[in-house]
Amino acid sequence: MNKVFIQTYGCQMNVADSDEMFAHLAARGAELTDKLEEADTVLINTCTVRDHAEHRAVSFLGRLAAWKKEKPGRVIIFAGCAAQRLGEALQKKYPFLDILSGAKGIEHFAQTLDKSGLFSHQDHPGQTPAPGLTGYVTIMRGCNFACTYCIVPSVRGPIKCLPVDDILQDAARKAAAGAKEIMLLGQTVNAYRDGDVSFADLLNRVSEVPGVERVRFTSPHPIYFTPQFLAAVKDNPKIARHIHLPVQSGSTKVLQEMKRGYTREVFLDKIHALRACGFNISTDIIVGFPTETEEDFRQTLSLVDEAKFFIAYCYKYSPRQGTPAAEMKQLEQKVLEERLDILLNKVRGLSDAAYLTQVGTVQEVLMETPHKGRSSGNFWVKTSKAHPVGSLVRTEIERADGTLLFARD
Ligand code: SAH
Ligand code: SF4
Ligand code: F3S
Repeated sequence: MNKVFIQTYGCQMNVADSDEMFAHLAARGAELTDKLEEADTVLINTCTVRDHAEHRAVSFLGRLAAWKKEKPGRVIIFAGCAAQRLGEALQKKYPFLDILSGAKGIEHFAQTLDKSGLFSHQDHPGQTPAPGLTGYVTIMRGCNFACTYCIVPSVRGPIKCLPVDDILQDAARKAAAGAKEIMLLGQTVNAYRDGDVSFADLLNRVSEVPGVERVRFTSPHPIYFTPQFLAAVKDNPKIARHIHLPVQSGSTKVLQEMKRGYTREVFLDKIHALRACGFNISTDIIVGFPTETEEDFRQTLSLVDEAKFFIAYCYKYSPRQGTPAAEMKQLEQKVLEERLDILLNKVRGLSDAAYLTQVGTVQEVLMETPHKGRSSGNFWVKTSKAHPVGSLVRTEIERADGTLLFARD
């Protein structure tokens, strides 16, 4: 039996890609292991969104030289976004690397395995792990935007939406295997369209799949949240009331230079409309984009005050080779560090404040352990009674303590 150890970096799309790649390995007789020392194959699925992410993946690969030397028959697969960016150069630098499969090659991963001659179809396929409470379903690949800081379009290519029927089948398979919640995935997930079927239609259709109690999605782009979208989803309680909606900057000038396609005001209008339908909003923010002035940065801080995000993930701008922003004159690292510090201090209290807003409300909690689950808005809830894992419990929130809600039942 070929034992495979998987190391995944990057976003949830990458996690889903790792599952997909493993399914092809399982069809060739492989099974999963979480112990590197007993593995015959290592699959590294990589990210290159920031330099640090790429560096982690490449240094893991470097460390595998010794692992491979122990048993030369061992196989190393380097896949995903960093594999796409670095390409053949990697194989020269790390000659012990067996298979290179860039992010754009995910649809041909099975052929890549077959061509390598290192794996062959088996009469007894390996087990693929059950999905758990949340089933991840990729609905689109790639990105058609050209945000000036971002490498994703160049490593993932343009948008390709999967057919609705395939998506519904995938969701049904995962629900039949025990998933109660389906998370739809794509880099601009709400740009989805297949013929007449819009993203909102798709959400409604997935929510009707037998066994599906809740539908989430990530990550959407602000420009696709239209009044039509809200009208189509507002009466469907199975669509989770949490949206991760990256803003990137609070300055309209920087947003333009980033080519985000919206202004500060438009973004604020969108989240107010979403909030009016009960959505809880988290975000991503970049500090130190090359043209960001002190005043621009103050605009980001004031947007954080105004928007009342649930959570804000904050990143220092990282120049990515080949992107327009990497060619601009860069700010000093010291400035990036100072701004990140200030912003992190500001966002620290956000989630506590959001938790407090839930006290006194009635929530449906999807139980992940007998005493703990998540509400539709993605808040962690502790129940006083024990409930079956996977059940939905409707209960009142009595108090909040930091990052936990306490429910009556
Ligand atoms: N498709 C999503 C985001 C994908 S990348 C969207 O458009 O919203 C995830 C996050 O990484 C982004 O939201 C952004 O905040 C951050 N990011 C992307 N490129 C970056 C860079 N060059 N430097 C720092 N952070 C970056
Ligand atoms: Fe990158 Fe922008 Fe596409 Fe998001 S929308 S993946 S930030 S180019
Ligand atoms: Fe990283 Fe690729 Fe996702 S660059 S964030 S793994 S799309």
